[in-house]
Amino acid sequence: MSRLVVVSNRVPLPDENGNPPPGGLAVAVHAALRESGGIWMGWSGKTTGEEEPTGLTTLEHGKISYVLTDLTQADLDEYYNGFANRVLWPIFHCRLDLAEYARQEMAGYFRVNRLFAERLVPMLEPDDVIWVHDYHLIPLAAELRKRGVKNRIGFFLHIPWPPADILTALPVYEIIMRDLAEYDLAGFQTDYDLDNFVGCLRREKWGDRTDKNTVHAFGHDFAAGAYPIGIETAEFARLAEKAGEASMVGEMEQSLNGSALMIGVDRLDYSKGISHRIDAFERYLTRNPEMAGKLTLLQVAPHSRSDVKEYLDMQAQVEAHCGRVNGAHGTIDWVPIRYVNQSLTRPVLSGLYRLAKVGLVTPLRDGMNLVAKEYIASQDPEDPGVLVLSRFAGAARELDGAVFINPYDTDQTAAAIGRALEMPLDERMARWRRMMDHLLKNDVGHWCRSFLDDLSEAPLHHAAT
Ligand code: UDP
Ligand code: G6P
Repeated sequence: MSRLVVVSNRVPLPDENGNPPPGGLAVAVHAALRESGGIWMGWSGKTTGEEEPTGLTTLEHGKISYVLTDLTQADLDEYYNGFANRVLWPIFHCRLDLAEYARQEMAGYFRVNRLFAERLVPMLEPDDVIWVHDYHLIPLAAELRKRGVKNRIGFFLHIPWPPADILTALPVYEIIMRDLAEYDLAGFQTDYDLDNFVGCLRREKWGDRTDKNTVHAFGHDFAAGAYPIGIETAEFARLAEKAGEASMVGEMEQSLNGSALMIGVDRLDYSKGISHRIDAFERYLTRNPEMAGKLTLLQVAPHSRSDVKEYLDMQAQVEAHCGRVNGAHGTIDWVPIRYVNQSLTRPVLSGLYRLAKVGLVTPLRDGMNLVAKEYIASQDPEDPGVLVLSRFAGAARELDGAVFINPYDTDQTAAAIGRALEMPLDERMARWRRMMDHLLKNDVGHWCRSFLDDLSEAPLHHAAT
């Protein structure tokens, strides 16, 4: 069996017992790596004061080697905070208004991808299968090819791929497209993202689909497909069932004092539609004054990418927004929105999901949104809650039992909250069962296997040259 080499910006290191940290991707990829043995390479999370990055750190756990590279402050500013999070992230999430393009940052992005390639090449064996993750590392295959690497290389994009009209606002979109074509398999979250990618090729007459899963572009064939990422469905259901044991969940239930709970869980990111959600909640309260004191929104929102100005700005906006709504609608014994910037663990989250009658997932654009899936997996089969889901989340293409909303339509989201709260038990159970069956079948292990199986069968144009 060939060895698997995974490369991602962040490396989820195992704990002192060798267990991977929670999180679907980490667990599934670790499971695959444990079987075949292999390498997981990425950024150590540390910056060096030096001008040049320092050497690699290697940690061995069983058959897996974690290979970590530090970055200089300039690398971090230009590659991660700069081009990845201030250009690619907003553009791929259709927020051209937030993209701040700077040539120097773009150079930093390609420089760090070169650095990753230089560091990876000496470790590679001819049969290794390389799997690269996410928008930080799109040019990595091209850099490896330049250094003579002929191995199978797959890429999975965890975020959306935008339509051609949006992507072409990226000054270096041709390079990004050409670089993606250097992989043997390019994987996207949904058919919609895949169609957008092919649409970009078509628009510029660079290539087209030759069959459902093969693309011909820039003079060669490569595989491209949709692989919707799943969660550890059974594990979430198990955690949620015994979640009453987590004291934080019990305390939450008690403190609600009989008020129904709605939950939102998101990194504080402008793509998540948190302000739109708060507006809809406020509209619902205004239209249903009898619900004062009877409904509480818990918004869990850990800070994210706080070195990026656009993130800092939205943190301040959401804080002010929650304060305004609580001030306008709250009473001495009821706070409508409980706003928490802490990051919660999975056992606690699963319990809170189960406690909540309504899961509010309202992104303006999202590659998948695992929270939507986790909310479903955590429900009590005898009395499940209702998922209110933005049609702009990748998860909307799978979770057909949700109540769908357009987050820009505040009236519609407010009405969906009412509908979810009033939905009869038999309808809730029927909707939930459909989605749960889908999630059990299409879990994160299934995602990992489908991708790696297709990568092993992808056309190999690079080996031939
Ligand atoms: N998450 C967590 N603790 C928190 C908030 C979020 O562990 O306090 C996890 C959540 O359970 C989910 C992930 O972070 O697995 C978020 O994934 P999602 O696809 O919803 O959004 P992303 O942050 O990747 O854009
Ligand atoms: C999204 C991206 C991931 C990223 C995560 C957290 O899920 O697709 O690549 O790791 O957000 O963001 P951060 O910038 O903290 O790694």
